[in-house]
Amino acid sequence: MNQAKKLYLETFGCQMNVSDSEKIVTLMKGMGYQQTQDPVDADLVLLNTCSIRATAEQRVYGHLGKFKSIKKTKPGLIIGVGGCVAQQEGEKLLKKAPFVNLVFGTHNLHLLQGMVAAAEEGKRSSQTDFLDDEKRFDLFPHSEAEGGGTRFVTVMQGCDNFCAYCIVPHVRGREISRSAAKVVEEVRALADSGVTEVTLLGQNVNSYCSKQPGEPDFPDLLRLVAQVDGIERIRFTTSHPKDMSPRLIECFADLSKLAPHIHLPAQSGSDRVLQKMNRGYTAQQYLAKVAALKEACPGIQFTGDMIVGFPGEDEAAFQDTMALMEQVQYADLFSFIYSARPGTKAAEYADDATRAEKQGRLERLQAAQKQTTLARNRSLEGTVQKVLVEGLSSTGDSLFGRTGGNRGTVMAGDPSLAGRVLDVRIVEGLQTLLKGEIVHD
Ligand code: SAH
Ligand code: SF4
Ligand code: F3S
Repeated sequence: MNQAKKLYLETFGCQMNVSDSEKIVTLMKGMGYQQTQDPVDADLVLLNTCSIRATAEQRVYGHLGKFKSIKKTKPGLIIGVGGCVAQQEGEKLLKKAPFVNLVFGTHNLHLLQGMVAAAEEGKRSSQTDFLDDEKRFDLFPHSEAEGGGTRFVTVMQGCDNFCAYCIVPHVRGREISRSAAKVVEEVRALADSGVTEVTLLGQNVNSYCSKQPGEPDFPDLLRLVAQVDGIERIRFTTSHPKDMSPRLIECFADLSKLAPHIHLPAQSGSDRVLQKMNRGYTAQQYLAKVAALKEACPGIQFTGDMIVGFPGEDEAAFQDTMALMEQVQYADLFSFIYSARPGTKAAEYADDATRAEKQGRLERLQAAQKQTTLARNRSLEGTVQKVLVEGLSSTGDSLFGRTGGNRGTVMAGDPSLAGRVLDVRIVEGLQTLLKGEIVHD
């Protein structure tokens, strides 16, 4: 009997890459590769990479070193690099890393099978051309729905915003939306297989179809998806504050399936910095949208992203960021030290704060957020939340799920409850999660 070939796949970066990796697994299965968790066992190693910050990119090169040593003892090992670093580096990566067999960009998944087949014949290749066409969505199979729980559904890809610091538009290309009919068809198929929650995915979902006037826009799409029977909860990510329209805010009031949570990255609370970042809103405009969302959906939970140490950020500008956080009261916040990325506008700006100053700001910001997160988690004690059970917790001795507000919750219960949305009373709000008990009526 032929032993199955083994694929070791490692994924870095955002949900876009996670979603692409699911497709990669399906494509490689089609070529007879079964996934393994042990790289030493693998015939094919694929890295799906991220280049959002210099540290993310360096991590990829660190990992490649590890596979280079494995290849020394196993010369037939095929090593491929995909995703955003691959897109950025292209052919250069083949030169820098002679042990790499193939490099595939963010628009080239449909070529992957051919490239792996060529590598099996000893040929090295790199494919990083952009394919700015909606057809791209149809070029590879849907990832397999395994039933139950929660799934991501891509609604758009790419980004046209060109925030001054960001590499995404350079490595993911221009924004393209998938037709509403296709999105609804995929959601319906997932619901039929037992999926109860979908997260509509894109770099900037709320500008969905903005380049196709006459087509359903994002609020229309949400209303269509909400009509699919079997889907109990809808989420979406990521949103750009400038595109958070009154019609989209209304959806939070009207659609009971829409989860009371929004990831709405502000990036800074200083108008001067926001303008230099090319974000297209002021702190006041951002806060007005937050207030409108809180009014439309009482109890809504906010999460966001914040950058410290952007060129030109002084202590006063940093204090504006802290003041904005105080007003919003984020349930959770992802915060980063600015990292200059090749080819972006901000890479040309003088980077004036010292490393120590930036580190100090990050620490102060994170300490303040930690307090807010704990206070918000504690404020949920005694309330009953709708929790979608995802499965066993990481420790394996209880169930893990998420509230509508997207707070991770652990509770005792039978694993067969995975995929169900249950009433859970919160008994304790901790720093990183909630503890609850299932309400039995
Ligand atoms: N499309 C999403 C997410 C983009 S990347 C959005 O627009 O919100 C995720 C986060 O990484 C960004 O929100 C930003 O806070 C951070 N980020 C992006 N580029 C960065 C850079 N050059 N340095 C530091 N953080 C960065
Ligand atoms: Fe990057 Fe801005 Fe686009 Fe988000 S909206 S992906 S931060 S350019
Ligand atoms: Fe990283 Fe690419 Fe996502 S740069 S954050 S994996 S779009």
